[in-house]
Amino acid sequence: MSIKDWLKRGWVYILIFLGSVIGTVLILMLLFNIREKKREALQYPFKVVEIGEDEIDPAVWGQNFPFEYDTFVQTKVDYGKTKYGGSTPYSKLEAYPAMKRLWAGYSFSKDHNEERGHHYTSIDQANTLRTQIVVQPGACVNCHAAEMPALVREMGWEEFNATPYNDLKSKLMTGSSCADCHDPNTMALRITRPAFKIAMEEAGVDLSKATRQEMRSYVCGQCHVEYYFKGKNKVLTFPWSEGRSIDAIKAHYESYDFADWTHAETGAPMLKMQHPEFELWGTGIHAKSGVSCADCHMPYVRRGSVKISDHWIRSPLQNPNASCQTCHHVTVEELEDRILTIQDRTAKLLRQSEEAILDAIDAIKVAQSKGIPSDKLDKALHLHRRSQMRWDFVSSENSTGFHSGQEAARILAESMDLARQAQIEAIKTLNRS
Ligand code: HEC
Ligand code: HEC
Ligand code: HEC
Ligand code: HEC
Ligand code: HEC
Repeated sequence: MSIKDWLKRGWVYILIFLGSVIGTVLILMLLFNIREKKREALQYPFKVVEIGEDEIDPAVWGQNFPFEYDTFVQTKVDYGKTKYGGSTPYSKLEAYPAMKRLWAGYSFSKDHNEERGHHYTSIDQANTLRTQIVVQPGACVNCHAAEMPALVREMGWEEFNATPYNDLKSKLMTGSSCADCHDPNTMALRITRPAFKIAMEEAGVDLSKATRQEMRSYVCGQCHVEYYFKGKNKVLTFPWSEGRSIDAIKAHYESYDFADWTHAETGAPMLKMQHPEFELWGTGIHAKSGVSCADCHMPYVRRGSVKISDHWIRSPLQNPNASCQTCHHVTVEELEDRILTIQDRTAKLLRQSEEAILDAIDAIKVAQSKGIPSDKLDKALHLHRRSQMRWDFVSSENSTGFHSGQEAARILAESMDLARQAQIEAIKTLNRS
């Protein structure tokens, strides 16, 4: 081979060599990019600040967890109404006028709105007429302010509950916070509200052994439950000594004749039910199948290469794709239809119960106006109480039956039956007199 030939072939080798170098570099760059993305996912969250044990400001937590924080602050947004829920705080009393008479003599008959996002927990409590026209205890603060656990450490459990709400009001700046549900050191879910701990312990549940999936509902069960204020210190208590079904809750209250207020039209000793989401969900097919509150209300969403839990806690009708389609492989239209079918049926039964209870109230009033003594009306009054607590349980539960459709229907069927019995009992007293 001549030197000339060698040089000619040499160029070919050099070109092949250079080509493979460039190719290798390109492949390495691609691999590096993928590794970077993976590392970003692994590195997230970024530890920017040390979060103190007493830190309740979500913005401070947000420095380490910006993606969760960005969704959390969206609970401020009014995304509008859904057919029965949503984040527009319209007056329930105007939407369902029967409520004014059903709650006659109680502050709920003056002011009660559709609830909205966690951003407003403290704000709406401060602004409702229910904290202005009546003197409320500090017990109200339990579920509405992030300052609550620190106040209990400072004042003691009984004293905190007993102190008037208005005396604590100026200390409540934060509303909902990361600290309500998370341990700042490990970010594990935790229970911060004593009433839930006490009630679960009494029921024989060891919270320290709760699974991660159970905790994804327990954190919500701290607040989204029926409650009352017990004794002269107004200690926040969950009526679960007999269980968490409506019948168990009734048995708890009957065991010592508890009443929230006296009905202004009939004089019946009444019970007010409030947001029993945790209890009603617990009787439904989703709870039985191990589906948690967070599965539907905090579904996973993507932020770049990172998967996070959506902290914009809201109506799943806003995002059935993320909330339901992970488990149900049907169209969004079909899912919406399944929700609305249950809700429309429940709403119709609710309206029918309201009419039945109002008829009972009217019959009792007629008997009273005819001079029937109150001991003769005792049976009718107790039926009024029992009927209305059942209607209220489903009415104030915020899913309009969805969390447990058949149980909601069963409870309303009983409510109507008891209301009609009350009406008949009242009419009977007239026939006898
Ligand atoms: C299987 C899914 C699912 C599970 C599990 C679930 N929910 Fe719901 N939830 C819904 C749907 C659907 C609605 C109806 C939303 C509407 O009417 O706009 C709803 C409504 C609500 C509302 C009222 C929202 C609004 O817009 O007014 C609250 C509060 C709520 N749920 C809390 C809870 C809590 C607390 C738990 C657990 C104890 C829970 N949910 C479990 C699907 C679920
Ligand atoms: C056990 C926890 C808990 C306690 C105690 C509690 N709340 Fe609430 N509150 C909630 C939850 C959960 C909601 C959202 C669901 C709803 O509105 O039904 C809510 C909603 C509200 C709202 C907005 C909806 C409306 O009714 O207009 C106001 C106002 C309010 N609470 C005031 C009070 C007052 C006043 C007290 C004391 C008498 C109190 N809360 C005690 C958990 C609690
Ligand atoms: C009402 C309760 C609640 C509040 C308030 C809350 N979180 Fe969460 N958070 C959860 C639940 C439930 C999960 C899911 C945990 C699991 O699956 O183990 C979660 C998960 C997380 C995770 C784990 C990664 C992920 O996204 O799943 C981080 C980080 C986190 N939250 C940060 C925050 C920050 C920051 C705030 C305040 C800005 C906050 N959370 C407020 C309930 C809450
Ligand atoms: C510390 C008490 C507390 C905890 C814990 C809590 N909530 Fe709430 N939640 C409230 C209060 C109070 C409101 C009503 C705020 C208002 O209307 O001003 C509310 C409102 C809501 C709403 C209505 C939002 C809307 O757009 O209408 C939903 C849905 C909800 N919570 C679900 C949950 C779920 C799911 C969990 C658990 C992951 C949870 N909450 C944990 C107190 C709590
Ligand atoms: C984590 C999984 C999971 C999620 C998320 C989930 N579901 Fe379900 N759902 C189930 C399971 C499991 C059942 C029980 C049926 C079965 O065993 O096949 C069920 C049952 C149902 C039923 C039948 C109820 C009945 O009374 O028979 C309806 C309707 C339903 N889901 C709607 C929804 C909607 C709407 C959403 C979103 C808001 C949702 N589900 C989210 C797992 C889930």
